[in-house]
Amino acid sequence: MSNQPQLRTERLLLRPFTLADTPIIQQLAGDKAIADTTLNIPHPYPDGLAERWIGSHAPRFRDGQGAIYAITLPETRQLLGSIGLVTIPDHQRAELGYWLGRPYWNQGYTTEAARELVRFGFTELGLNRIFASHFSRNPASGRVMQKIGMQYEGTLRQHVAKWGQFEDLKMYGILKSEFRRAGGKE
Ligand SMILES: CC(C)(COP(=O)(O)OP(=O)(O)OC[C@H]1O[C@@H](n2cnc3c(N)ncnc32)[C@H](O)[C@@H]1OP(=O)(O)O)[C@@H](O)C(=O)NCCC(=O)NCCS
Repeated sequence: MSNQPQLRTERLLLRPFTLADTPIIQQLAGDKAIADTTLNIPHPYPDGLAERWIGSHAPRFRDGQGAIYAITLPETRQLLGSIGLVTIPDHQRAELGYWLGRPYWNQGYTTEAARELVRFGFTELGLNRIFASHFSRNPASGRVMQKIGMQYEGTLRQHVAKWGQFEDLKMYGILKSEFRRAGGKE
């Protein structure tokens, strides 16, 4: 698969980002609440970062190193947030990551997008394992992982430092065999 396909869910269109998305990315991801519980999003969100980030997506997909998607509403074309898989091909393993603009929280959008990305990862990208982690003080993200059928696999104590504070990481994962057993659509 050389071009990253669009994905549909009941309410959402997951599509590749384009450079036209940069102002909204900067606005939504520029909210300190997004940077606060993610590892790689700085605050304030600097000019030029969104462009560089989007520029990395097509080569990443082409090289089998993952798939990053814009979470959008198909009717209004509104951009809500981002979700992606970052793949380690040798191990057929990918890490799932996501953020959603604060106005759209707690409506099930991330869960809906994540469920579709897990299906895509197992059925189209040939993955064997998808994992994710969240700061222990970010239970909403943990709920997303639980709701899509991931298993809690343990806590890495003080594994990362965020803004000078060590953070515990709660690890979750799902295997292709579990996805199949749970009746995942292929
Ligand atoms: C984490 C995040 C992506 C969740 O997105 P979302 O679209 O609101 O998630 P959903 O609506 O699909 O599910 C959220 C769940 O968390 C629950 N939740 C929300 N706040 C919570 C809290 N403080 N404690 C426990 N559960 C909480 C919601 O009730 C919901 O669960 P439910 O359906 O069982 O009621 C969003 O909050 C976000 O972008 N946060 C900042 C960036 C971030 O942390 N990214 C993840 C890094 S690991």
